[in-house]
Amino acid sequence: MTAHSPIAPAGASTFPDSARATFAAAYPDQPVRLTHELVGHPLLGLDALAALAERMPSSSVEYNLGKLPLGVRPEDTPSNGLTLGETIRTIEINGSWAVLKNVERDAAYGALLDAALAELEPIVAKATGPMLHREAFIFLTSPGSVTPFHMDPEHNILLQIMGTKTMTVFPARDENLVPARKSEDFHNGGHRNLTWQDGFKSRGTAWPLAPGDAIHVPVKAPHFVENGPAVSVSLSVTWRSERSVAEGELHSFNALLRRRGLPVGTVGQRPEAQGVRRFVYRVMRKLGA
Ligand SMILES: [Fe+2]
Repeated sequence: MTAHSPIAPAGASTFPDSARATFAAAYPDQPVRLTHELVGHPLLGLDALAALAERMPSSSVEYNLGKLPLGVRPEDTPSNGLTLGETIRTIEINGSWAVLKNVERDAAYGALLDAALAELEPIVAKATGPMLHREAFIFLTSPGSVTPFHMDPEHNILLQIMGTKTMTVFPARDENLVPARKSEDFHNGGHRNLTWQDGFKSRGTAWPLAPGDAIHVPVKAPHFVENGPAVSVSLSVTWRSERSVAEGELHSFNALLRRRGLPVGTVGQRPEAQGVRRFVYRVMRKLGA
């Protein structure tokens, strides 16, 4: 939780009425493109983001050269020779990338997140209950870079602020794309990246995003991202719900059962309704299972 007011300033708007209507028809299960009004926002220019990065804890910022050899070892990752602030201020020409994590911990950006989510909260509350664990991330990516095939555990809306990218989104809960064991591993600390097969490509929908576009990415819908020919800045606003928490618990429960050679259960479309299995999982976890 952040300490600032969740009330949007009078007249401020992140998502226009048409975007909120589109979101309401798609949430929580369908990916959909929306529009937003944060392009040109003073907190989202390169100078403001450089200043933000410089006052954030270093553990919340990752940055390095954008184009590395495929097999580079973490300890061999070359520095770009610039400070963090210089990296962001000149990112259009230095070929780097940076991720600023949990920017909501900074009061000004926390207010930006709260204002954006407040506009969606009535829609979300109706479908999946209270918005839990709100977080925001800012991605600065260099031309032509690719974020590999992966999934994320949050409800997510990515707002494109500067430059273009194409996000290709695949259906969630398809065990041909993400085997049950991979989901179980993911919810037990396993890596978010998924195994790619060329045959998957036709299952995905490519969503080109320009400044002013946003995309709703459902929980654990696999996706990959291809950056356009210019530097890209995106803001990701995320939250959890009882449904997303329950899904994680049920996959973790299945992992426990599988390790003991017991039959695993079906997570299904409404994991939040599986009260008995979630209760048993919580008891087992308390007992140190
Ligand atoms: Fe992602």
